[in-house]
Amino acid sequence: MGARKNLRYDIPFYTQGWFQLGWSKDLRRGQLKKVRQFGKAFTLFRGNDGVVDLLDDVCPHLGAHFSAGGCVKGNSVRCPYHHWSFDRTGQCTDIPYADKIPAKARVGAHTVVERHGMIFMYRNKAGTEPTYDLPTIEGFDPDEFLAPFTYEFTIRIHGQDIMENSVDSPHFWAVHGHEMPENEFHEDGAELRITQTASVHRFGQKLHFQLKFTMIEPGFHYVHFPRLPGGATALVFSSLVPVDEEHTSHRMTMMIRKTRIPGYSNILRRFIDWQMMRTYHEDMRIWESKEYHARPILCDGDGSIMKLRRWYAQFHDPVEDTATRPDVRTVGVG
Ligand code: FES
Ligand SMILES: [Fe+2]
Repeated sequence: MGARKNLRYDIPFYTQGWFQLGWSKDLRRGQLKKVRQFGKAFTLFRGNDGVVDLLDDVCPHLGAHFSAGGCVKGNSVRCPYHHWSFDRTGQCTDIPYADKIPAKARVGAHTVVERHGMIFMYRNKAGTEPTYDLPTIEGFDPDEFLAPFTYEFTIRIHGQDIMENSVDSPHFWAVHGHEMPENEFHEDGAELRITQTASVHRFGQKLHFQLKFTMIEPGFHYVHFPRLPGGATALVFSSLVPVDEEHTSHRMTMMIRKTRIPGYSNILRRFIDWQMMRTYHEDMRIWESKEYHARPILCDGDGSIMKLRRWYAQFHDPVEDTATRPDVRTVGVG
């Protein structure tokens, strides 16, 4: 038997699905970046035609990393070591000092999609093409929102634990000092929708919130706040990508819908930013060291943790690489 890579979790650390690698605004035409996910280095680049692509970072020639000084030429990546060029399909298309390009001179290329200002890759264990498109959030128009605040953390935790935290009602009371929220579950094909009613004491007042979580992918969910004070609404996209067998990248995009009251959305954005980061760091303290109990001892007030885990399990790497998930393409805000 081979050594277990992760001693903390007895569920697979990597899952299949769509995963956010970053934001569109951070990758200009002709720019190349190293991204490290799923225990591997990749080169993410935007060709001169504006299209984003993802290649394995290691050159098949003599093993240089493209991201260690390589560049984008047209819609290809040029290796810094001997200037071999690879197009977006991974095929070597140019060796400046050779008459013939070796047939095997190619590098792994991965499916990438840009959606809602974010860049996603598809990943499964077999390395095959996706069998479904990344769901689109219907009715989402970025022009209706203020410019987003973005956050990026790398944490020593499984992504499932972060998702589980959203439905772990008693921790809101014990860790964050909120009242215990109520969760209402609705499963729809591969998606899980949770409506949470919560309240928090701030500034001498009790503020009531409704949060609507839509879990689309193991790597992506979003939270809609449909009824904030002053008639405002907010959206938070939340992305979880394994970096290696121990760490997860958590990227969040927080957006407040513009309101008619001048300056109000901006104040609200700062308040939610402050509130989110405060609760985030309260959780992080616990997340990085907590153990994973596959069969936890739960009480009647613990609620929905196992429901979330059952939903999440559909994305675990299959034993046979033939499993697919139901085809769901669009989801709505709200
Ligand atoms: S190692 Fe990349 S071109 Fe030689
Ligand atoms: Fe929390």
